[in-house]
Amino acid sequence: MIDLRSDTATKPTAGMRAAIAAAEVGDEQLREDPTVNELQRRAAELLGHEGALFVPTATMANQIALRLHSRPGDILFAEEKAHILIYEFGGAAVHAGLITVGLPGDGGRITAEQVRAAMPAAPEQVDQMPAILCLEDTHNSSGGRVWPLDELESVVGAARDVGLATHLDGARLFNAAVAQGVAPSAIAACFDTVTVCLSKGLGCPLGAVLAGSHALMERAWREKHLFGGAMRQAGIVAAAGLYAFDHHVARLADDHARARRLAEAWSAAGLPVDLERVETNFVQVDFAGFSVGREEALARLQQAGVALSSTIHATVARAVTHLDVTDEDIDRACEIVPAALGMPTRA
Ligand SMILES: Cc1ncc(COP(=O)(O)O)c(C=O)c1O
Repeated sequence: MIDLRSDTATKPTAGMRAAIAAAEVGDEQLREDPTVNELQRRAAELLGHEGALFVPTATMANQIALRLHSRPGDILFAEEKAHILIYEFGGAAVHAGLITVGLPGDGGRITAEQVRAAMPAAPEQVDQMPAILCLEDTHNSSGGRVWPLDELESVVGAARDVGLATHLDGARLFNAAVAQGVAPSAIAACFDTVTVCLSKGLGCPLGAVLAGSHALMERAWREKHLFGGAMRQAGIVAAAGLYAFDHHVARLADDHARARRLAEAWSAAGLPVDLERVETNFVQVDFAGFSVGREEALARLQQAGVALSSTIHATVARAVTHLDVTDEDIDRACEIVPAALGMPTRA
């Protein structure tokens, strides 16, 4: 099976497993795990923040961030299809007691004007205080779309001007950085806090980091413990993260090139792929108005040995390239998918 459902499908490589086996470990809960400490130092440096905290999942990193920036009853703004609003089981309400307001986006992006317009004219007269703006880069639900840096800075600047704390859900921040040819810190440093996931394109079995100021990370440390996320010999996993920083960042460009090749081949074969929207490692196929419906298409492709997944959009499926997808897999998927969907074979 060529598994293109998600970049979470990656399994640790031999090199990563060797790094895991060789990891020096200690009691992470006592801050004595040297590998975790080193991962946090490296992550902070890469992201342009004073500190970073190693956590088991990006969901936990996002949820901790929300608690750092708000009080129960406050408002969280995010693009309406952001992961933090639709895929975290209502965590913003459950863990932080937040009211969530989704702003309609274009390719996962909102504007500075939308942020300003969302603020109450007289904050002292409203019951709920706007507290946080969360952006997502790359944006999952729109198909791995990237925020141009100037747009990002303008929206974050507007949020700051109106007194909002800013959080970046950068689960796939490294994909955005590699796609734009910029340092991760160029995207991450302007936010108060940033989440980065280690278990997607970076290929770790699990793990994420939250970065921010020393003061925020001290508070985050306590929140992590409250979530049950304080660990023991967690260096076993952090070693995978350090290995990924050294070996799996630049290669994300290969995933992006493979996604582009897939998209171009499928589009040339007549599949409904919008090439303009393929910016990183996602290819979205919109089956609206196509001869085969999405569920039938996914079933036929599964049968033919290529797994795609559905998305939040009723007619859209996606293919995601990652560390475990080779050039040969792409060659085969370029042929198999159009054939399984009844497209005429090219001469
Ligand atoms: C944009 C984004 N944020 C957060 C997450 C949550 O990651 P995790 O599965 O590590 O909790 C995901 C997972 O797909 C994601 O795509």
